[in-house]
Amino acid sequence: MKDVAGRVAFITGGASGLGLAMAQSFTGAGMKVAIADVEDAALESTRQLFDESNAEVITMKVDVTDRDAMEEARQQTLAAFGKVHVVCNNAGVALNDNIAEMTYKNWDWVMKVNLDGVINGIVTFMDDIRSHGEGGHFVNTASIAGQYGMPNLSAYCGSKFAVVGISESMRIDLADDNIGVSVLCPGFVETGIYKSERNRPAAFGGNVAPAMKERPDGAVRIVDGQEMQTMQPSAIGDIVLHAIQNEQFYILTHSEFESSLTKRAQEIQDSFAYWQNYREKHNV
Ligand SMILES: NC(=O)c1ccc[n+]([C@@H]2O[C@H](COP(=O)([O-])OP(=O)(O)OC[C@H]3O[C@@H](n4cnc5c(N)ncnc54)[C@H](O)[C@@H]3O)[C@@H](O)[C@H]2O)c1
Repeated sequence: MKDVAGRVAFITGGASGLGLAMAQSFTGAGMKVAIADVEDAALESTRQLFDESNAEVITMKVDVTDRDAMEEARQQTLAAFGKVHVVCNNAGVALNDNIAEMTYKNWDWVMKVNLDGVINGIVTFMDDIRSHGEGGHFVNTASIAGQYGMPNLSAYCGSKFAVVGISESMRIDLADDNIGVSVLCPGFVETGIYKSERNRPAAFGGNVAPAMKERPDGAVRIVDGQEMQTMQPSAIGDIVLHAIQNEQFYILTHSEFESSLTKRAQEIQDSFAYWQNYREKHNV
């Protein structure tokens, strides 16, 4: 979607971090933006931020796991702007623990927000985007953790792998509808993700302990003995806008992770050879 000025975007988790950065990049390009988020304080500061500008922005309190609330948000967005062209299914939470310690509440919270939230955004807005015929774009926020398994991140990786899989599939399904798809898979970005427990409902364990036990500080993080630079959210906002305008499906922003993905791909390739050999040997 090259020409984005005047188009309407709906962004979940849009009141902080990556979602807010997308809202800023989009409004900078002349788009109208509906921001949905569950956190009151972040919504209030976002409201103030955009009140000071001429940008056409509405904000609304929405829990992405609540399908009725998503439908209300859809109606509110259509009432304000008439149409929706871009949906960014971005709201997400992170939690780390060894798989042996993972409770149902841990699993349910992460899967509900990170996976169901994306599904709900897709189903809620699909008919609108397809029917107006002006083209559109879905941006699903996954993570580099949706590209290879990382320690102590089973639920997070599981949810993000699922988002990548859904995105790959929907990209094919929507190819003839003039609707683009991008899947955002960043590495480290300086946001509030390490304090995700602030939005953890009581039913899913509540805000009683840090969701991320490992909470690195500073701009450099070490993964597998390698230094990883954190990025600023504003850069990701601009990158997402570029991806929409230039029909880029994969948004893998942190090349430091390339060797880990290559290692995974090699292991998968080796597995084909191993089992082919097995099948020939056993005649199956
Ligand atoms: N920051 C990173 O390093 C990083 C890396 C890879 C992927 N991501 C992904 O980026 C996305 C955005 O996260 P972020 O880094 O900006 O973190 P963030 O915590 O700054 O922003 C997440 C936003 O989602 C909102 N949210 C949480 N639960 C919600 C719910 N149930 N309904 C609606 N909104 C909800 C929060 O209020 C918050 O505004 C997430 O999906 C995250 O997994 C982040």
